[in-house]
Amino acid sequence: MRGLVKRFGGLPAVDHLDLDVEAGEILAVIGPNGAGKSTLLHLLAGLIAPGSVERMALDGAELTGRSPHRIRRMGVATVRQDPQPFGSLDVVDNVLIAAMFAGTTRRTERDARRLAGEQLERVDLPSTAGWPVDRLTLHERRRLELARALASRPRLLLLDEVMAGSSTVELDTLVTTVQRIRDELDVTVIWVEHVMRAVTQLADRVLVMDAGRQLAQGRPGLVMRDASVVAAYLGPGTARRAAG
Ligand SMILES: Nc1ncnc2c1ncn2[C@@H]1O[C@H](COP(=O)(O)OP(=O)(O)OP(=O)(O)O)[C@@H](O)[C@H]1O
Ligand SMILES: [Mg+2]
Repeated sequence: MRGLVKRFGGLPAVDHLDLDVEAGEILAVIGPNGAGKSTLLHLLAGLIAPGSVERMALDGAELTGRSPHRIRRMGVATVRQDPQPFGSLDVVDNVLIAAMFAGTTRRTERDARRLAGEQLERVDLPSTAGWPVDRLTLHERRRLELARALASRPRLLLLDEVMAGSSTVELDTLVTTVQRIRDELDVTVIWVEHVMRAVTQLADRVLVMDAGRQLAQGRPGLVMRDASVVAAYLGPGTARRAAG
């Protein structure tokens, strides 16, 4: 993307952002609350329209101006910060719907069912297949959303704080799951996350956003030691101590 801008009520949420993501890469996006991270994902998914943009493309195909549905069909799947599964359906049917209707290719119900089952296993939820969605914990719901996203066989996966509020054990399972997704599926991941331990374990590269702009970018270890990054999170005094 080049020159991506989104304003809400005159205030920039994403402010002239340029970004390249390599195929197969896990790019973590971090930054303080209100930095514009979710807005960036929503723009990519077509859930909101940019104020202005020079270019926003996936493998050469322009994304700007396309509907969320069309963008899903182009291979972009999103796990939102506020997951909204179909509460009236059971767990496996939630994944089945994604496999049948959100995918890059049309599928028969039989193929879609097999694909849905595979994704539930991938996220360690197969035993809940027949449950109503309401019975799932928040952590299980996040994994269900992940299974739904994967069921569309995406090329680009957009994750928004899937680890938030997880216990240590849940965090470890999710880290393993995302690692497995990266190793087994040919998928590129843009992943907004606050849990730094997971970011340092999983990300190939980290983009730090602050007030809609790129504050820093690079390998996780290097970026975390950057004084301006520390300042954005903890205040300038801490940055001076960290730098000094
Ligand atoms: N639909 C909206 N209407 C008005 N303002 C919005 C809207 N969505 C986001 N904003 C504003 O845009 C800015 C960026 O918000 P965004 O949700 O992208 O931040 P974020 O980095 O995801 O934050 P968090 O870490 O809290 O999730 C904030 O100032 C927010 O209040
Ligand atoms: Mg957010």
